[in-house]
Amino acid sequence: MTTAQIFDSMDYGPAPESAAEALEWIATRGPAFGHFIDGGFTRPGETFATRNPATGAELAQITQGTVEDVEVAVAAATKAFPKWSKLSCHARAKYLYALARLLQKHSRLFAVLETLDNGKPIREARDIDIPLAQRHFYHHAGLAQLRDAELPGHRPIGVCGQVIPWNFPLLMLAWKIAPALAAGNTVVLKPAEYTSLTALLFGQICQEAGLPRGVVNIVTGDGRTGEAIVTHPGTAKIAFTGSTAVGRRIREQTAGMGKSLTLELGGKSPYIVFDDADIDSAIEGLVDAIWFNQGQVCCAGSRLLVQEGIAGEFHDRLKARMAKLRVGDPLDKCIDMGALVDPVQHAAISRMVDANSEGETWRAPVEMPETGCFYPPTLVTGLSPAAPLMQDEIFGPVLVSTTFRTPAEAVEVANNTRYGLAASLWTENLNLALDIAPKLAAGVVWVNATNLFDAAAPFGGLRESGFGREGGWEGLQAYLAPAAKWAPIKTIAPFPAPEAPEAPGLDRTAKLYIGGKQARPDGGYSHPVWSKRGALLGHAGIGSRKDIRNAVEAARGAGAWARASAHNRAQVLYYMAENLSARSEEFARRIRELTACSAARAEAEVARSIDRLFSYAAWADKMDGRVANVPIRGVALAMREPVGVIGALAPDEAPFLGAISLIAPAIAMGNRVVLVPSQPCPLAATDLYQVLDTSDLPGGVVNIVTGPSHELGMTLARHLDVDALWSFAGGVDAGALETASAGNLKRTWINRAAPDWAGPEAEGRAFLDQATEVRTIWVPYGE
Ligand code: NAI
Repeated sequence: MTTAQIFDSMDYGPAPESAAEALEWIATRGPAFGHFIDGGFTRPGETFATRNPATGAELAQITQGTVEDVEVAVAAATKAFPKWSKLSCHARAKYLYALARLLQKHSRLFAVLETLDNGKPIREARDIDIPLAQRHFYHHAGLAQLRDAELPGHRPIGVCGQVIPWNFPLLMLAWKIAPALAAGNTVVLKPAEYTSLTALLFGQICQEAGLPRGVVNIVTGDGRTGEAIVTHPGTAKIAFTGSTAVGRRIREQTAGMGKSLTLELGGKSPYIVFDDADIDSAIEGLVDAIWFNQGQVCCAGSRLLVQEGIAGEFHDRLKARMAKLRVGDPLDKCIDMGALVDPVQHAAISRMVDANSEGETWRAPVEMPETGCFYPPTLVTGLSPAAPLMQDEIFGPVLVSTTFRTPAEAVEVANNTRYGLAASLWTENLNLALDIAPKLAAGVVWVNATNLFDAAAPFGGLRESGFGREGGWEGLQAYLAPAAKWAPIKTIAPFPAPEAPEAPGLDRTAKLYIGGKQARPDGGYSHPVWSKRGALLGHAGIGSRKDIRNAVEAARGAGAWARASAHNRAQVLYYMAENLSARSEEFARRIRELTACSAARAEAEVARSIDRLFSYAAWADKMDGRVANVPIRGVALAMREPVGVIGALAPDEAPFLGAISLIAPAIAMGNRVVLVPSQPCPLAATDLYQVLDTSDLPGGVVNIVTGPSHELGMTLARHLDVDALWSFAGGVDAGALETASAGNLKRTWINRAAPDWAGPEAEGRAFLDQATEVRTIWVPYGE
C-alpha cells in the first residue's frame, strides 16, 4: 500500500503489542502454577487450563484450590494478622506504596498478561485497568497513613475472604486488597478461574515488596474454592464481586456466621439521552458504556433510553458508529473490541440473544475474526419493558434500546429494574441533569460521561446490585469495625402473670401505629403486659404479617420525607424532643413500671432520649457528603442519601431509649421506619404515638407494630419493599433473618451485641452510616 493510498482510505494498519515477555514469564514461573500462600508459591495440585480466548491457545495450568488449600491459606492469614494489624499506619502505608510502585514498574507485563488471559484490548488493559490498579494502591497508601488520624475508634476486622470476577482481574484485586491491607487486615483472595495469571504475578510483586508472609494469600480455583473461602469460619469479612446469583448464595451461606459482608453484583444500567444532548458525545460515550471490555462490565450502560424526538436520528448515527468499530486481535493496539473471556460466556450471550423474538436485532456489519471468542457489537430495539433482554444482565456487547417522552418517564423507565448499580445521563441542561440524577435508583451516576472510576470515589450499588461501597473513605470503612466492645444481647423475659391478678384499673389497650393512625392488629389479638409486682399495665397488640405489610406500604407511601429538607427534618426531631420533655414524668413512670428499674434510672432514660433526639436533629443537616478528589476536570459528589424503608427490631434493654436510638437516626436521614418494639416491654414505644402525632411528623414515616420480634422480623426480612433490616432485639435468630433477607439483597445490620444505650457509642456515625447510602454523582465540566 502506498502512502497516498493510506491517506486516502485512512485505514489503520496492524499495531501488535508483543506477547513475548508475558509468555516468557509464564514459561519460567509456570507453566503450571500453584497458589501464593504464606509468602511463597505452592506446588501445583490438580490443575486446569487457562486459555487465551482470542486464539483458544492454552496459556498455563492453574491449580484448583481444595478445601485443604483454603485451610492453609486462612491459617497463614490468621497467623499474620496480629503483627500486621499492629504495625504503625506509616509502616503499612510504606508497603502499599511499594506495591503501587512495583505495579507501575511492571505495568506493561501486567497489561499484556491481562490481555492474553482475558481477551480485552491491550489499549484498555494498558490505559485503564493497570493504571487504575496502581492508582488504587497509591490512594490506599494514603488512606493507610491517615487511618488512625481520620478514623479513630476503629479496628481492622481480621482475615478477609475475597472473591473476584474475570472482567477486570487485576483491577478488582486492587479494589479488594488495597483497602483491606490499608485498614490492617490480612487477606485470602480467589481470582476467577478464567483469569488467574495477573493475580499470581501480583503474588510475586508482594514478595518483591517484602510484604510480611501471610498478609496476602492467593488461592486459585473455581466456585468450589470460592465457597470454601466464603464459608470458612476463619474469614471474618467476605467481599465479593460477581453475579447476583452467586452473591445471593453467599448472603445465604454466610447468614448467622457473624461475618461482615459486602457484595458488588450485576446491573442493567440505564444510559439516558435527552433531546438536547450533544449527540456525537453521547454516541462516543455509548461506545465506552457498552463496548468497553466487550460489554463485560457490571456497570455497563446496557439499556439505552433515548428521548422520542431524536430516537430515529440517534439510532441511525449509532449504527453508523457501530459499523466502524474494529473487532479483532486484543493485542493489536488499534482495535476497539477484543475477545469475550471464554466460550462459556459466548454461549451464554448467544443463548440470551437468540432466545429473543421481539423487536429488531441489528448486528454491526464489522469484519469479524474467523476464530476465537468474538461477538459482534449488537443493538436490539423495539423490546417491551418486561422482555428478558430488557431486564436481565447480558454481560456482553449487546445494547438494548427504548424511548421515553418526558423526564419523569425517563426516571420511571430507568428505575424499572431490579438492579441499581449505575446510570449515565446526557443533556446540555445542567438543571435537568441535577434534577434527574438523585431520582435514579443507582449507586453511581455519570452526567455527560460514563464508566468513570477512581480510587477516591465510592463505587457500589443498591437493590440487587448488592451493598457496600468500594473506594475512598467509605470503601476503607467497609474493612473496619468499631473498636468499642459491645456487650452480647441478652434475651429478657417479660414479667409473668401473677397468680392472683389485682382488680384491673381502666383498660389500656395499645394499638399499632400505621400511616400516622392507630390501628387494631389485623389478627384481633393482644396480650397483657404485667409489672414486676403483678399489676396489669395494659394490653399490647399482637401484630402479624398483614400488619407489617400495611406498615411497609404506609412507609413506602411516605417517600416525600426523603425529599423534605434536612432543616425540616431537624425541626420535627426537635419538636419530638420538646413534646417528650413536656411528658417526661409520665414516660419515666411508665419505664419504671415496665422494667422495675429505679426512678433515677427511668428519669435518666427519658432525659437521654431527649438528648438523643437533639443529637440527631443536630446531625440531620450535618451528615454531609463530600466532594471526592478525582483526577478529572469536574467533581464527583459522594452524596449521603436515605436508604429507604428500614425495618428495625428494638432492643429489650432500655426499651424506650433503644427504640428512640433507632428511630431518630433513621428519620433524621430521611428514611421511613417500621419499628418492632421490645417484645417484653412494648408499651414503652406505644406511648410514643401521641408524641409522634403532635410533632408534625408526616404519617407513615414512623410505623410501630408490636408483637413477636422474631416473626415480625422475618416478615420484614422477606419483604421485597424493605430496603434494610436492623436488629438489636433479644431472642431472634440472626441467621434466619439474614437468610430471609437474601430475596431482595437488602442491607442488614443484625446485631448479636449492643452498645450501652445510655453511652456515647449508642449514637453518631455508626448509626448514621447504616441510615445512609452513598451515591456518587460525577459531573465533569468544561467545554
Ligand atoms: P460468578 O459470579 O459465578 O463468578 C464470580 C466469581 O465468583 C468467580 O471467582 C467464581 O469462581 C466465584 N464463585 C462462583 N460460585 C461461587 C460460590 N458458590 N461461592 C463463592 N464464589 C463463587 O460469575 P460467572 O459465572 O463467571 O459469570 C456469570 C454471569 O455473572 C455473567 O454473565 C455476568 O452476568 C455476571 N457477572 C457479573 C460481574 C460483575 O462484575 N458484576 C462479574 C462477573 C460475572
